[in-house]
Amino acid sequence: MKHSFALLSAQKKIPCLVVPSYKGDSLKRHSFIASLSDIDRAYALGSLSRFSGETLETLLLFLPSDPAIALLIVGLGEKSKWNNRTLVKASRKVISALKQARIKKAGLLCADWSVSGLTLERALEVFSSNAELADYEFNRYKEKPKDGWPSVDELIYLAPQSNAAKIKSALQTGFTIGQYTNLARDLANTPGGDMTPKILASEAKRQAEKAGARVTVLTEADMKKRGMGAILGVSKGSKEPAQLIVIEYAHPSAKKQKPLVYIGKGITFDSGGLHLKPSSSMDEMHMDMSGGAAVVGAVCAISKLALKTRVIGIVPAVENMPSGESFRPGDVLVSLSGKTIEVVSPDAEGRVVLADAFTFAEDFSPRMVVDLATLTGAVTVALGHHASALLTPDEAFAKHLQLVAEQSGDYLWPLPMWEEYEQDIRGAVGDILNAGKNREAGTINGGMFLYQFAKKFPKWAHIDIASTMTTSTDQVLAKGASGSGVRLLIELARQGS
Ligand code: BES
Ligand code: ZN
Ligand code: ZN
Repeated sequence: MKHSFALLSAQKKIPCLVVPSYKGDSLKRHSFIASLSDIDRAYALGSLSRFSGETLETLLLFLPSDPAIALLIVGLGEKSKWNNRTLVKASRKVISALKQARIKKAGLLCADWSVSGLTLERALEVFSSNAELADYEFNRYKEKPKDGWPSVDELIYLAPQSNAAKIKSALQTGFTIGQYTNLARDLANTPGGDMTPKILASEAKRQAEKAGARVTVLTEADMKKRGMGAILGVSKGSKEPAQLIVIEYAHPSAKKQKPLVYIGKGITFDSGGLHLKPSSSMDEMHMDMSGGAAVVGAVCAISKLALKTRVIGIVPAVENMPSGESFRPGDVLVSLSGKTIEVVSPDAEGRVVLADAFTFAEDFSPRMVVDLATLTGAVTVALGHHASALLTPDEAFAKHLQLVAEQSGDYLWPLPMWEEYEQDIRGAVGDILNAGKNREAGTINGGMFLYQFAKKFPKWAHIDIASTMTTSTDQVLAKGASGSGVRLLIELARQGS
């Protein structure tokens, strides 16, 4: 979608104007309504008498004097409750209403979208990134309808000349963030048979090259040489060879900086291994590489945005399959760190592959490590679909991340990492169990396991995105992968630490 800037005076030439309205607003006084001819205004106000301005209520009006011109009135709810979160949803709603009406081009009166506490540019960046997210549909496997896919071609942001440069650059940033979040959704939505570890690695390479970042891939032979027994252990049951994907980006001014390291779980299909998942739990498991996809998307976006930082993305890409060669419950894997992992459940495979990725990350002397993983079903029991879980022993870092999360739109909520929980994963035969002995505190146990491999990092946080892996109905987005975490990782790189 094109996001273009135009002067306010251009509004008369645009075939559809989006007019936001708070609950209780008198649209009579709205400058655009006031500028209509008597007939059009009387018609618009008549129709608006049934419009209350509730959040996300929409009304589409075609003007009697020229039915080619439409007004899309969008309810923003109570003005006192209008904030960053409502802006996210309302901007998506604008696109979904335009798509539904098959309107390809629309104008936005910029000032109407400002949010207190945000600059106008920042609000418009949020608008444009979320417009991209709402425009997205995963239709690669579907026959194209004769009249094409419903999508919006152009949004024209109308503002005074004095704001032009800042707004144009904010729109470009928002567009890039939206596009790369959609890249992560594409990778995650692609069925497991078409998104094997090798394909994920080659897609990461292709995308990184386009964005100006560099990818190297470690093969199973490389991993064997290094002693990555945890990744190789999980991969044993699959015909698809594991790949360790490394994406690097450094701004010329930050080449000597210690990097931010982002690590993403890249299980391209999680059958559960010998603890085979029941069929109802398996159908979304091609998205078990959503953390990896988010890392690929975020590092590419950071490179495209040329942020003044150094970032390294690490994605252990592995398929978890049952076979005569699979790792077994009871097996003990020797990880790259030297610590042994006693396998309680071959379905708790994500933390196992991440363990080796963490130790590998030590080579880069990171200043901060954040991992993103669809690690546990338990996180959805705890938080529902509205937040991912945040686990870190560093309280100040947790606070910082929660703030960044709120600004990015990828919301986080913390869970405790007290040492009391450590005993649940103490091994009997090996050093560390890959799962607790019962169903209690599943998400915390996952975090506690990872913590055993993160102790050398100056700052580390684990984000369990299993709860936000797919979109939920109230998010005004297409069904399927949500791209959870991409916006968070980009915002974190922008804000530094
Ligand atoms: N990939 C799953 C977690 C998951 C579940 C992600 C639902 C997205 C949606 C993970 O590998 C897994 O199976 N975890 C187990 C851990 C348990 C065996 C300790 C789980 O959550 O049941
Ligand atoms: Zn699993
Ligand atoms: Zn998994």
